[in-house]
Amino acid sequence: MPATATPIRTARRVDRFTYAIRNIVIEAQKVERAGTKVRYLNIGDPIQFGFATPPHLIEAVARAMRDGHNNYTASTGILEAREAVAADFTGRGVPVPPDRVLITSGTSEGLELALTAIVNEGESVLVPSPTYPLYTAVLAKIGAEPLYYRTDPSNHWLPDLDHMRSLITHSTRALVVIDPNNPTGAVYPESVRRALIALGEEHGLMILADEVYGDLAYSGSMPPLATLDLDAAIISYSSLSKAYLAPGWRAGWMAVGATPRLDGALAAIKKLADGRLCSPGPMQYGVVAALTGDRSHQATFRQELRLRAELTTTRLNGIDGISCVAPHGAFYAMPRVALPAGRTDDDYVLALLRKTGILCVYGSGFGTEPAGGFFRVVFLASLSELDGIYDDIAAFTREYLDISSG
Ligand SMILES: Cc1ncc(COP(=O)(O)O)c(C=O)c1O
Repeated sequence: MPATATPIRTARRVDRFTYAIRNIVIEAQKVERAGTKVRYLNIGDPIQFGFATPPHLIEAVARAMRDGHNNYTASTGILEAREAVAADFTGRGVPVPPDRVLITSGTSEGLELALTAIVNEGESVLVPSPTYPLYTAVLAKIGAEPLYYRTDPSNHWLPDLDHMRSLITHSTRALVVIDPNNPTGAVYPESVRRALIALGEEHGLMILADEVYGDLAYSGSMPPLATLDLDAAIISYSSLSKAYLAPGWRAGWMAVGATPRLDGALAAIKKLADGRLCSPGPMQYGVVAALTGDRSHQATFRQELRLRAELTTTRLNGIDGISCVAPHGAFYAMPRVALPAGRTDDDYVLALLRKTGILCVYGSGFGTEPAGGFFRVVFLASLSELDGIYDDIAAFTREYLDISSG
């Protein structure tokens, strides 16, 4: 066969890489082509459900473009944005200088930079189960292992510290803490947060504090994890995506804790950041506007989310065969359906999609056992739309469980 007829082969690392939240859309498109309207409850994007980016952020980005800020920026980000992030953290109780801040293409890029900078192939990272799948995707790419620590639905989805301890080996390098949590909606109390820091510190781990929902706890903004121990090896992350309603801008930031133990990691992260030039320049002016301007939209958004969380918990717990732990932050719930023996979470989710057009993501896409029957609901749709969706989930589940067991 001539070389031109040979398919280009793909790298082995791609075989290890999965991203259920987006992969499942292929199934949804098939359902759509067959004529069923799909209700997409798979992706946490408030804009797709009618929430609007605050106008002063849009104006700041548009003005930046008009004013000619269309150049490459410093790889760590423009000084004004790093100063705004540093001032924001300092105001929240974590003094950090602008030279320990990086502006990134969303938290996603910052997390990938840090993991790539400090974790070698074959080493491991503690990741919650269930987890936001970015972590397992990045670890697959760099040839490292996720160590899934249990978070317990019978205990408000809080981390099981004994289980975490039992997983740590000499090659464990980092601990991922997602609080408020996607996919469970859990918000960790201070005692748990302190215990997580103590565990990380005891084992010399770098702690990645994913606080992308930090301003979306229903009781109000959470203090960053780093406030509890300013000397701990914590990198704090957030972005414009959720609490500032601009996910498509891909604008986020990371603040590297002041401890000199993180100096090497910071230098390595900056070195890697040089290789991708910079995050989008005009959006960095949006970061400045977000962190120095009016944030009143957040109180309204939190209230909207609280109402949806209450409806979701009440309605799902009212369905025979489904139980749901109440979320306390963000816009996700992780209900569980009591599956008949032999069935898996993706059987249920795909059957729900094909029958009703409702698209959720199966729990095993976030690392739970397939037989566990967990699935994730994004509850950003309007209350009336959600009510209709839960009616349909109830009717479908009644039928699914009867048919399966009968
Ligand atoms: C827990 C968590 N971390 C990180 C991200 C990625 O956020 P960003 O848009 O800032 O990259 C998400 C997005 O859904 C998330 O849920």
